[in-house]
Amino acid sequence: MIPEIEQLLNDQIKYEAKASAQYLSMACWADTRGYNGIADFFYTQSEEERVHMTKLVKFINERSGNAVIPAVDKPRDDFKSLMELFETFLESEEFVTEKINNVIYECLKHKDYNVHNFMQWYVAEQLEEEATARTLLDKLKIIGDDKSGHYLFDRDINTFQAPEQAN
Ligand code: FEO
Repeated sequence: MIPEIEQLLNDQIKYEAKASAQYLSMACWADTRGYNGIADFFYTQSEEERVHMTKLVKFINERSGNAVIPAVDKPRDDFKSLMELFETFLESEEFVTEKINNVIYECLKHKDYNVHNFMQWYVAEQLEEEATARTLLDKLKIIGDDKSGHYLFDRDINTFQAPEQAN
């Protein structure tokens, strides 16, 4: 494996682990405030990010590289509102997308088409996740401070789909 690419993939493991921890922290925030639907949503998101991380770990090791499991900093848990919670979700997804785009760019530069091909799954996944994060934030902007709106948002969150995913 090209060392520069291996390093980038190991960096990506760290970003996915960070996202997984962040979403678990967001699930806790929601769970302890009575937002059970939102908590379920973030528990699931956290698990998905862990899958993203493990997929990278296996890919590196199967190609005779060395996957490095990182320490993860304490995630944020000081959200002041649902809006802030979901703004953080979108920011996190945008950050991961930017990093994935950089891996793709470096793969092309180093002519590593094998990793480039593997990373396409992440590109598609990010498209979906960013779209979901935007959709949810847009809905919250419409709801504003309306408490019954928050109640319905929490009740229905796991049925919402981003436009790109819906058929
Ligand atoms: Fe795997 Fe949503 O970043």
